[in-house]
Amino acid sequence: MSAEYRITLSAPDDVTGWRDAARSLLAARVPPSSIVWQVEGEDGDLFGASALPAKGNADIRVPKAFLPLAATVVCHRDPERFALLYEALWRLQDQRQMLEDRADPLVARLYAMEKEVRRDAHKMHAFVRFREVEEADGAVRMVAWFEPDNHIVRREAGFFMRRFTNMRWSILTPDVSIHWDGETLTEGPGATRRDAPDGDPVEETWKAYYKSIFNPARVKVKAMTAEMPRKYWKNMPETAAIGELLASAQARESAMIERSAAIPASATAPAPLSSRPTNVEAAWEALRAEAMQCTRCDLHCHATQTVFGEGPLSPRLFIVGEQPGDQEDLAGRPFVGPAGQLLDEAMAQAGIDRAACYVTNAVKHFKFVQRGKRRIHDKPNVGEIKACNWWLDRERELIRPPLTLALGASAARALTGKAVTISRVRGTALTLPDGGECWVTVHPSYLLRLPDEEAARRERALFVEDLRRAGARAAALAA
Ligand code: URA
Repeated sequence: MSAEYRITLSAPDDVTGWRDAARSLLAARVPPSSIVWQVEGEDGDLFGASALPAKGNADIRVPKAFLPLAATVVCHRDPERFALLYEALWRLQDQRQMLEDRADPLVARLYAMEKEVRRDAHKMHAFVRFREVEEADGAVRMVAWFEPDNHIVRREAGFFMRRFTNMRWSILTPDVSIHWDGETLTEGPGATRRDAPDGDPVEETWKAYYKSIFNPARVKVKAMTAEMPRKYWKNMPETAAIGELLASAQARESAMIERSAAIPASATAPAPLSSRPTNVEAAWEALRAEAMQCTRCDLHCHATQTVFGEGPLSPRLFIVGEQPGDQEDLAGRPFVGPAGQLLDEAMAQAGIDRAACYVTNAVKHFKFVQRGKRRIHDKPNVGEIKACNWWLDRERELIRPPLTLALGASAARALTGKAVTISRVRGTALTLPDGGECWVTVHPSYLLRLPDEEAARRERALFVEDLRRAGARAAALAA
């Protein structure tokens, strides 16, 4: 039977066009088999377009779960997506619970498509890499090349606008380009890889850094390629070296084993000095720049920005807090809010110069629950701490602090990899998995929350005492 309706949508992800057409067709009781769906400009508009049917008066039922599903599935590259969605909508008129039956082949297929689109979006968040380009007016524009599997670029534009609001950037893809000037998002035609810049000085440093920290003994090729499919590698500066590194991994691993067998046990814990990049400052800058784009857990979705560590890279003390609070999230610097003020005062009392310390957090994005206009701190969970450990480990590999001070249980957990009861370990030196020495004390926010004035005074004095001891120990280690 020939199709009666040829519906042409204005773009491959035209969910509004599809929804409007689907409503009219459904109201006129046009069955799925009588419709051909096509996208303007694709396949040469083989069939031309037909007018939509006159408004019918059938009662249309759309379960709540269907619209978000359709909005995502429309972004899939499968040419049948519009027809499949219409078929589902058609069947839903009589089978209200149909979407709950995941064994139904149509339902299973739609949810699988939804999952693929979400996964693609996740990859885009994680693997878009911007390179710096100078524009005619001298301003910097960050430009990225990305090849999504599906039509997700418009859908994900909001993510990049929120994340890089104050930057000028462009994301070029084969199908479409999007450009942000700090206020307006514009769209352009698709591009080729050659239209995107290939590298900048920060990238070179990052590559060198990545190469220096690459540990062949930790390579799990299967897990690595599942999480970071090879097609994205070529656009990511840090992965340019992977092929070569993997190829030599076996030899490097054997060499490492031989080397470590020759080193006395007491000296094996800290990472070998040879793996420290020569330009630590530049490697740290590159690491920080990379952390600004972190999407390792979901906290980046709501936080304003990554709050990375700060301070000298050969610090007296390496201080680790839990996570940025409201003010840190806005300022982009650790410990600048009320807990930071308390920490500053206590450090001054303990005779420690904060300017000589590197201060960072276990988790680098603010986690909160919104209550009206207020954002209330919410404790990071173990998964979030683990996800963020990647950054803390890299900071420590670069800085190699002789002495670390953990403020509170989350920091202690991130550093030791285990749950820690502060009262049990307070006042004793712990040895961290990387061989560094660590002391644990309470978090300054705990002191701010104590309701009883006497207890607050007592606890604060103990905190200052802990800091004093850590300062003395740091001085002894440095001597
Ligand atoms: N609490 C922390 O643990 N870190 C900060 O940066 C601020 C408050």
